[in-house]
Amino acid sequence: MVSQYQIQVVLALFFLICTGQALARNTGRERISLNKGWRFSRSANNNDNLVYDVRSDTPTGNQVKILKPWILPVANPFIKAPEERRQRPSATPPGANITFTQINFNDSSWEAVTLPHDWAIKGPFYTGDNVPVTGGMGRLPIQGVAWYRRKLSVTAADVNRTIYLDIDGAMSYAMVWLNGNLVGGWPYGYTSFRLDLTPFLKPGDNNQLAIRLDNPVSSSRWYPGAGIYRNVWLTKVDHLHVAQWGTAVSSRNISTESAVIDVSIELENTGKTKQTAQVITSIHELDSRTGTGTAGKKVADAAQTTVDVDADHKQGVKSSVVVPNPRLWGPRPAQQPNMYIAVTRVLVGNKTVDTYSTEFGIRTIEHNPDKGLLVNGQHVRIQGVNDHHDLGALGSAFNLRAAQRKLEILADLGVNAIRMSHNPPAPEFLTLIDRAGFLVIDEALDSWKSQKTANDYHLLFDDWAEADVRAMLLRDRNHPSIIAWSVGNEVGEQTTGAAGAAIAERLCAIVHEEDSRPCTASKNAARPEMPFPAALDIINLNYQGEGIRDTPAYAGLDGIKTGPSYPAFHSAFPDKMILSSESAAALSTRGTYFFPVTKENSAPVLDAKADGGGNPDLRQVSAYELYTTPFGASVDKVFATQDAHPFVAGEFVWSGFDYLGEPTPYYSARSSYFGFVDLAGFKKDRAYLYQARWRPDFKVAHILPHWNWPERKGLVTPVHVFTNAEEGELFVNGVSQGKKKVAASGYRLRWDDVEYQAGEVRVVTWRNGTVWAEETVKTVGDAKGISLEADRNLIRGDGEDLSYITAKVIDENGAVAPRANNTIVFAVEGPGEIVATDNGDPYDFVSFPSKERKAFSGLALAIVRARGGGRVTVTASSKGLGSTKVELTAR
Ligand SMILES: *[C@@H]1O[C@H](CO)[C@@H](O)[C@H](O)[C@H]1NC(C)=O
Ligand SMILES: *[C@@H]1O[C@H](CO)[C@@H](O)[C@H](O)[C@H]1NC(C)=O
Ligand SMILES: *[C@@H]1O[C@H](CO)[C@@H](O)[C@H](O)[C@H]1NC(C)=O
Ligand SMILES: *[C@@H]1O[C@H](CO)[C@@H](O)[C@H](O)[C@H]1NC(C)=O
Ligand SMILES: *[C@@H]1O[C@H](CO)[C@@H](O)[C@H](O)[C@H]1NC(C)=O
Ligand SMILES: *[C@@H]1O[C@H](CO)[C@@H](O)[C@H](O)[C@H]1NC(C)=O
Ligand SMILES: *[C@@H]1O[C@H](CO)[C@@H](O)[C@H](O)[C@H]1NC(C)=O
Repeated sequence: MVSQYQIQVVLALFFLICTGQALARNTGRERISLNKGWRFSRSANNNDNLVYDVRSDTPTGNQVKILKPWILPVANPFIKAPEERRQRPSATPPGANITFTQINFNDSSWEAVTLPHDWAIKGPFYTGDNVPVTGGMGRLPIQGVAWYRRKLSVTAADVNRTIYLDIDGAMSYAMVWLNGNLVGGWPYGYTSFRLDLTPFLKPGDNNQLAIRLDNPVSSSRWYPGAGIYRNVWLTKVDHLHVAQWGTAVSSRNISTESAVIDVSIELENTGKTKQTAQVITSIHELDSRTGTGTAGKKVADAAQTTVDVDADHKQGVKSSVVVPNPRLWGPRPAQQPNMYIAVTRVLVGNKTVDTYSTEFGIRTIEHNPDKGLLVNGQHVRIQGVNDHHDLGALGSAFNLRAAQRKLEILADLGVNAIRMSHNPPAPEFLTLIDRAGFLVIDEALDSWKSQKTANDYHLLFDDWAEADVRAMLLRDRNHPSIIAWSVGNEVGEQTTGAAGAAIAERLCAIVHEEDSRPCTASKNAARPEMPFPAALDIINLNYQGEGIRDTPAYAGLDGIKTGPSYPAFHSAFPDKMILSSESAAALSTRGTYFFPVTKENSAPVLDAKADGGGNPDLRQVSAYELYTTPFGASVDKVFATQDAHPFVAGEFVWSGFDYLGEPTPYYSARSSYFGFVDLAGFKKDRAYLYQARWRPDFKVAHILPHWNWPERKGLVTPVHVFTNAEEGELFVNGVSQGKKKVAASGYRLRWDDVEYQAGEVRVVTWRNGTVWAEETVKTVGDAKGISLEADRNLIRGDGEDLSYITAKVIDENGAVAPRANNTIVFAVEGPGEIVATDNGDPYDFVSFPSKERKAFSGLALAIVRARGGGRVTVTASSKGLGSTKVELTAR
């Protein structure tokens, strides 16, 4: 039976669809999500013998069909020199008759999937040795060949339009067929790309799209994800339209009274006749009420320009417009991230043939070698993190809410900058970041011609580096958050003398052709006297800034030893800004502490040493937050070298969040130990060291460890306090352990001789003689129950929005049992589902979609989404702990 309510919803939807189409006709452009309705099939092997090119892991022999000559021409729009562009071979590509590309192939037995999709994240994990995918890449089944198929419809009204397929990212070696015809593809999984479907489409509903991915083992030093892991769009435009990423909006002559906005537009005419177009751009404030990216109040109109665009050509057109009283974009919290939208209309005759919106911000940035970064003339110290693209238990499949949550957690800790290590992110992430007011270093590549792993980018560099770098620049250039472009991370070429420097110069020349912001590459090994850093505009140092293996605890280790290299770089390059693009590489697992504790303020994890910080059986690292990789430095050591060299612009910590893969120091695990936030998004103790420094006016006094050590009665159990006070006094069961000054040990208060007795540890801290912050940690009783807390109780029922639900194992007073590892079973009633669970333990091999998850250090996480509206009840239960509910509303 159809209720009145359902009819209203249907009518409302219908109205939306109709107005949407009407809107499209007025604006000339439609951008339609293609995320739904796919069929998917994956094989761990390459059964069809198609290859992009021969690789160490591809089949060999006569039956292998190489498609590279048909894929390469897709890069042409990004290759500057005409003679380096490739002709599509006139021959029919091999494999044209392959079954999965055919319209008549019946794929109804394939898995139905919605994009963004990461086929590997559900696991199961590969454990142990001799597995196809080891710890470095996250022990998940990323490898193999996969096909995605769906139908496209073309209406009669589309007949004279150009229809593009826009893929924001597919991992990897994407090749696309339409109705059995090879359209093109793009090998590098992090680059967004466009294919013109127009020549291969036919009217009607029966157009068959088939996308083949081939994701190699040993292609990455971290978890790359697998599949069409970002959004996919069908873009329908008039033959005359704004080209892909065809606007560049920049500002100059900025004052409080006015700013000059230069708008550069590239028009493309895919039609058969020359067109004369009028181009009009108006500038609007971004509608801050909705935050949806719609144009708000209009603030200026650029003069209309007339331009001829020949058939099958592109033509640039420039205009300038003055915006009065500009509201500047700047990073939080000292400045506001005000955004504008340039709305460009293209008219032929009096008909609007295209409308194109470009979000941008008005601001100045200066990279000052002595002062660091200035935004709108104000010094902004870079308090950044490195961020890999995975979203923890959701894998690499992009999700807007998951990305937004990441930013919220980081902002709370005082983070103001993100380095995209080591690849361009999903485009929506940069949009979120602009609006949230973080700074960004956008980065293209982790390797050049010199390989780090057998199947990494070195296989593609010669053919694709220009296109991949230029595609990043064109796609991302209008984001005000971006302060620099990085063309490489720790590439082998940094120490190959003139040869490596020549590549850096070539890639930076591409940056300079497209944008005014500096070109850089991160250096962990290049020294100031080598040619490599001279080829770059600013100096991004990984680890060597704060010194590598140069303090007593690291003395016995092999490998390069060097003191802080900031001064040497500063004097070699007095006109280049210096920053730490990777700092720390500190290690820990949340809530785990091992004894004895090193007396040093920075020490490598050494399993052979009693105070070495690691537990190789549990694959855990002590959260006293003093332990690092062999080349790393504790947070305290990094802060000290930053403070000793005030010309340094700041740091990007390795890393903000833990990520999948690279589980140093225990490669038998599945995810990293580097984050100051764990994989589930729970803060480690280390997070409070950063918060104390980065939010100096936010009162922080964080005590560690927890105080549940029945086996340590009478044993020395150091207590450390992370605070932005100047001094503190510690009390154990009311007995003072003495007053200490932070300055005495650097960046923390440490009472290293405390003897454990159950009860309570309390700290009182002072700043400038008055009490600043107090904190108490108590011995917690036996686990008796579970508490549940949702980060958001109201979510959209669109199958995308998420609620992150934290389960805490608690004692009878509601205090979290800090060592609890009880298995929690999550369940959902109503129109919701559990997408994944996690606990932040790098050595937990229970697959992420599992509804059962052991608590780790007392906590577990469930990620819930809703399909449709209604009441969603999430229940957590555990043997002996009863069950608890939390209610969500989905709309
Ligand atoms: C596909 O075409 C090739 C020639 O290009 C032919 O050798 C092969 O038999 C065909 N395969 C099928 C399944 O039709
Ligand atoms: C496709 O196969 C399924 C069963 O696998 C069958 O039910 C369906 O009718 C088939 N569709 C067509 C169009 O043949
Ligand atoms: C498409 O273009 C042709 C040639 O200009 C024209 O005759 C035809 O009416 C157009 N069709 C539509 C649906 O606009
Ligand atoms: C921009 O500023 C410069 C110097 O301050 C000035 O000469 C020029 O006229 C200004 N241009 C515009 C378009 O306001
Ligand atoms: C466009 O509109 C103007 C006035 O609105 C009119 O004078 C002009 O003839 C129109 N041009 C075309 C090509 O229709
Ligand atoms: C302490 O007080 C002095 C003088 O009143 C002031 O200059 C200083 O900034 C204060 N320090 C802190 C950390 O608040
Ligand atoms: C859970 O914690 C208990 C008590 O600390 C410990 O004895 C046990 O080994 C842990 N179990 C697992 C599966 O980690």
